[in-house]
Amino acid sequence: MSKENRISKTGPPAHLIGAEGVAHQVFHDAYRESKASWVTARPQPAVMTALSRGWFDDGPLLDLGCGTGENAAAIATARKKLRILAVDAVPQAVEQARLVIAAASLTDRVHFEVADLRDFKAMEPFGTVLDAGVLHVFSDQDRITYLEMVTRVLRPGGTAIFIEFSDAETRPRGPRRLTRGELCSALSLAGFTIDSIEPTRYETTVHSGGAAAWLTRAIR
Ligand SMILES: C[S@@+](CC[C@H](N)C(=O)[O-])C[C@H]1O[C@@H](n2cnc3c(N)ncnc32)[C@H](O)[C@@H]1O
Repeated sequence: MSKENRISKTGPPAHLIGAEGVAHQVFHDAYRESKASWVTARPQPAVMTALSRGWFDDGPLLDLGCGTGENAAAIATARKKLRILAVDAVPQAVEQARLVIAAASLTDRVHFEVADLRDFKAMEPFGTVLDAGVLHVFSDQDRITYLEMVTRVLRPGGTAIFIEFSDAETRPRGPRRLTRGELCSALSLAGFTIDSIEPTRYETTVHSGGAAAWLTRAIR
């Protein structure tokens, strides 16, 4: 792995990550070494904003790159009838997420799958997908493959929520930064209509006050 692709406590300038994205092994290493800076033990505030706006009312929900499950737990707690499939490539992340969901007594409605989202096939169509901090990790090429998958798994008229680092975040560490134009054009190319895009924060353990990010709602 190139040094530029690392996210770590001693990390080199991860903010320089560009079209090559974050090397996939980084995620496995981060969980194994307990250095995942996105694990904050609470749901992302931008997810709670989306929840308060009713953006997760149409199920089932697919939580892409669910990490340790705090977003899924918060959404399932607030939406009593919603079924959620939470997917992550890293088995350790899913193991931790299962514990979070079990502690919240939500195992009947929140299910898990360990899978690489660049090659994910859904067993049913989804009304909504959540991507909290995933799209911004992919290379230009993987982004296309990934967004094609997101389009495929959504019902026509379904909603995709994206929360991604923005170019307003100039501090080091973290994934690549997306401009508003880059994000909108990637989503439009994948067949989405942008319903709204606004500045938000993505909380990490290393960006005080949260990293500058975009909260985007797109319709298939
Ligand atoms: C920045 S973290 C966000 C985690 C969670 N959504 C949150 O907001 O707390 C990105 C997550 O995506 C997962 N991930 C990265 N690449 C992936 C891939 N190709 N397939 C599945 N999951 C992936 C990582 O393991 C990690 O848990």
